Order: sequence, then structure tokens, then C-alpha cells
Amino acid sequence: MTAYELISKKRDGHELSDEEIAFIIDNFTQDNLPDYQMSAFLMAVFFQGMNDRETMSLTRSMLESGDIVDLNEIPGIKVDKHSTGGVGDKVSIVLAPIVAAAGVPVPMISGRGLGHTGGTLDKLESIPGFRVDYSIAEYKEKIAKIGVCLIGQTPTLVPADKKMYALRDVTATIQAIPLITGSIMSKKLAEGIDALVLDVKTGKGAFMQTYDKSVELAKKLIAVGEQFGKPTIAYITNMNEPLGNKIGNWLEIEECIDALHGHGPEDLMEITHQLSGAMIYLGGKADSIEQGVSISKEIIQSGKAYQKFLEIVDEQNGDMTYIQSPEKYKKAKFISEIKAGQSGYIQSMDALEIGLTSVSLGAGRQKSDDIIDPETGIVLHKKIGRQIDSDETIITIHTNKENVIERAKQRLLKSVRISDAPVNNDRLVIEKLDKNSI
Ligand code: URA
Repeated sequence: MTAYELISKKRDGHELSDEEIAFIIDNFTQDNLPDYQMSAFLMAVFFQGMNDRETMSLTRSMLESGDIVDLNEIPGIKVDKHSTGGVGDKVSIVLAPIVAAAGVPVPMISGRGLGHTGGTLDKLESIPGFRVDYSIAEYKEKIAKIGVCLIGQTPTLVPADKKMYALRDVTATIQAIPLITGSIMSKKLAEGIDALVLDVKTGKGAFMQTYDKSVELAKKLIAVGEQFGKPTIAYITNMNEPLGNKIGNWLEIEECIDALHGHGPEDLMEITHQLSGAMIYLGGKADSIEQGVSISKEIIQSGKAYQKFLEIVDEQNGDMTYIQSPEKYKKAKFISEIKAGQSGYIQSMDALEIGLTSVSLGAGRQKSDDIIDPETGIVLHKKIGRQIDSDETIITIHTNKENVIERAKQRLLKSVRISDAPVNNDRLVIEKLDKNSI
């Protein structure tokens, strides 16, 4: 078997065997297959796709490239959630304490900001002292102790994905459904889950911008999860506007604290309760998703979710006093308001452009080694469908860089469309998919 033969086989649209896929992944992970051949292979997959068996085989080879966490000694059904990412998506930070407080252990290995989308780890690290770099042994210990731990990828978990993702990023092969499926599912399966809930975003601010592609991705993710014996439920949710009102790392933690106190924005809470409800159901603590949703709401109202969040912050070395008194966090140097300039109804908000603008303010990375400025970001005062007067503030920007303010204001104003007639917003949770949908 040679890499050349396998690249040409896939290029010509033929199916690869399990052994052939393992040959490519193993050799690439062990540095025996050069980047130029892997790039050609990735591009062949991008154009020719992979069937379900090949996708399953790719995921298995990637999963087996490193350690697989065994959480069997921790009682309970361990359930995680994965989101394909969006602007203002802080759901994990509200949901993890809810689900853990419901008695379902949550092993959560999260990512950093990517392009216009933020990352859970960057948001958590804006809490002074908060650590996400624990070893797998410490991660297990913390899940056993408080029922939840949120950490970043370690070098020994799915090393194949780290190398493949870096290459996909520079060879325009990110947007290939089998490659995304292998990447997401190998990492989730490696973290020790028993079941999984997926939030597959669709719309302008999402990774998959069309509804059909989002459904196709969701079905592949479910198929792989189920074949590994992990019950998997996916929701297709709308990312036509940012989620919640705040975008940017500490600003989003502030919004999570409000949410945990029962004052979260409607859209954030709708998605959070739906996904938490599904996790509580899969974790065996509710007889149906609907009952799981009621339990999730009850856990917020009773203050148990907020208490669990304080426990997480304390356990992961964060300074709880910032959660108890968020107003003491340092503010960005420049806080500047944008007026609507026109009366009417908000018709649309370009989530992609808003996400990219927040990166320019300091809230994300333009290059992989850029340092995030946690105080910076954007606050949206009105969302789609809301009525506004021309002299009302619709957006506030927070930045420490004076020279980016004017351009950011222009971009944000352009990203909001105002109509004279009332507007109905699209449904937020569009569809639920499970093993019966594939
Ligand atoms: N997120 C991942 O983890 N992998 C992908 O390939 C795309 C999004």
C-alpha cells in the first residue's frame, strides 16, 4: 500500500477500506506521511466525500491515534454537549453547571475561539485565576468530586486531529463533512462520554451556513455516535443573529452570571434549557426531554446552577469573588455607543460581521498567537424584531484600542438592517434529530 495509490483512489471517487484509512491516519500522525500528501488526500476527500462506513473508520483511526479517557469508575451516565460554534455562544458555561447540578456528570473538553466564533476556554480564562490546563488524572478527579470539569484539549488526546486540523486550516479543506465529523466525534469519544447532545448551528454566523448542509452534518455526527454505542441527539439551531446580547470573553461571563441568576436573555435560555433538558434525559435523570427541560428551569430558579458554577470556579482555581461581584472587573478603556440613526424594526443582524468586528476590538484572534483582551467586545441592546427609535443606542463597543473604534462602528452599523414594517424573527430551535432521523 502506498499513499500515492490511496490518494488517487479517493481522487477518482472510490471507496477506501478501513485498513487504507488507518494507513493514512497512522502514518500522518507518526510523521511518516508528508504534509503535501496529506493535503492532497484531504482535498480528495473534500471533493469526493466519504460514505458512512468510511467516515466511521476515519473517526476510529483518529480516536485511536491517542489516549482514550476511561471514566467508568465514576458512577452515572456521563453526557457532554458540543456546539459547532457561533457568535455569542456561551451555552456551555450555563449548561454545564445546570446538568451537573441535576446529577449528570459532565466531562467537557472545549475549544478556543476560531475565526469569528468565540471559544469556551477563552471565556472561562477571562475569570481571574481560572485554569483549563489540568491533566487527564486531575480532570477525572474533579468530575468525581463535583460532577463536572471544563478543560482544553491535551496533547495526548486525538493527536491526529491537531495535525489534520492545522493542515485543513491552510489548505481550504475545513468545510468537508466527513472531516468535520471525524474531527468532532474523535475528540468527544476520547473524553469519556456515554452520550452526547449536539448543537449544529445554521445561518450566516455559523460554520455551516445552509440548512441542508447543517442537517447533513448533524446526521453524520449522530450516525457515528450511535455506531460507537453512544446515544446522540442533535438540534439544528439558528445563528442568523448572535446568541444573547453580549459578545466578548468577560462580557459573556457577565451574561452567564445573569443567566445563572435567572435573568438570562430569552434566546440564550431557550437553547440552554433545550440542550440541558436533552442531556438530563440522556443522563437518566428525566423520563423525557420535556421533563429534562422542566428540571433545567427549576435548577436555575432554585439557585442550584449558580451554586454549582461557583463550585466549578473554585475547583478550577478561579477567583469566585469576581462571580459574586462582577462589577469589580476592570472595564475596557473605551466604551462607545452606536445610535440607530433610523426608527423602525430590526430586520436582520449579520452575525458573521459582528463576530469579525468583535475580533478587531480585541475579543478574538486574527493570528493563532494573538493574545485575547478579555474586557473587550460588543453589547447588543436590541435584537431582531425589536422596535427602535433613531436616537436609541443599539450597540455598545468595548475596546482598549482607540484606533479601531471608528471602523468598528461603521461595520456594526452596516451589519444591522432596519425596516419600517414589523419583523418576525426565525425560529431559534429549528429541529431535533436523533437515531430515528438517519
Ligand atoms: N470543530 C472541530 O472540532 N473540528 C472541525 O473540523 C470543525 C469544527
